[in-house]
Amino acid sequence: MKTIFSGIQPSGTLTLGNYLGALVQFTELQNEHDCYFCIVDEHAITVPQGRLQLREQIRSLAALYLASGIDPKKATLFIQSEVPAHTQMGWMLQSISYVGELERMTQYKDKSEGKEGVSSALLTYPALMASDILLYNTDIVPVGEDQTQHMELTRNLAQRFNNRFNDILTVPEISIPKVGARIMSLQNPEKKMSKSDSNTKGFVSLLDEPKRIEKKIKSAVTDSEGIVKFDKESKPGISNLLTIMASCTGRSITELEEAFEGEGYGVFKQAVADAVIEKLAPIQEKYADLINSEELDAILDHGAEKASMTANKTLAKAKKAMGLGRKRK
Ligand code: AQP
Repeated sequence: MKTIFSGIQPSGTLTLGNYLGALVQFTELQNEHDCYFCIVDEHAITVPQGRLQLREQIRSLAALYLASGIDPKKATLFIQSEVPAHTQMGWMLQSISYVGELERMTQYKDKSEGKEGVSSALLTYPALMASDILLYNTDIVPVGEDQTQHMELTRNLAQRFNNRFNDILTVPEISIPKVGARIMSLQNPEKKMSKSDSNTKGFVSLLDEPKRIEKKIKSAVTDSEGIVKFDKESKPGISNLLTIMASCTGRSITELEEAFEGEGYGVFKQAVADAVIEKLAPIQEKYADLINSEELDAILDHGAEKASMTANKTLAKAKKAMGLGRKRK
């Protein structure tokens, strides 16, 4: 049995990209491994968030984790800011991170580009992400492809810490799904689908109504060739829709190419929309039952307690290794 950790930011309602790139893997892994799934609210505040909206998004994300199939009897679900060890360890890891390596992160470059008043936390948050992972002696981190660079940094920081102080941190491996690792924006298939995209037509939210999903998929940017074929370079829009449909139905891309041979994009897009609507319907139903329930609070309370026990043990070892605080007899 391995230890698994992964987190999602409550920076908007989860998209189909988050679901297919991350959540689907989570629900499979929980059956065989010791899993920690986190709502990383401290990451979300690296860019401005409205107070009330953030609160709502945290709760909504917790309900969506459960509605997507996370079972609190099998996995630990918790909110990052309710386990203070994360920021403590995050600070310690910041002290061994280099400004140069943080400035090289593409997500930092993308999110800070052309913006004024960029927070220093946007630059340093990969050290907090490393802390999230390393506190649980994590073996495997299931994420979408966009997190590869942050994961490399996490591994480097763990190795650096072990070499400099004491060999106490587990160096984790990354796990990326074979299909669905990078779902692209419906409006700009060169860019990944993101929940904080200001163009809401670019993403399908897990809570979008069927009509809205259909409209968004029908207006997805494609090409004028009229052939349903996977070719990421010259047909990024159609390739993205094929990936979405394959991930939602479990059918292979080749099978779908054959099924839609000779059909126009209209027929294909309708079929993609139907597949997405069918996939999301049971999630939306469970979400409605959970969102205002006391059960949700009880699960999060228990999760924070359990996560704290593990995290505090690693934190204590790491503090001792770095020479922080006093020596206890
Ligand atoms: N488009 C995507 N395709 C596949 N996987 C994706 N993930 C994100 N976008 C896609 C995976 O979802 C998990 C949670 O991501 P996150 O919320 O921590 O941060 P993110 O990667 O920055 O996601 P967003 O949606 O793009 O959020 P914003 O807009 O706030 O930046 C991760 O495992 C990620 O790989």
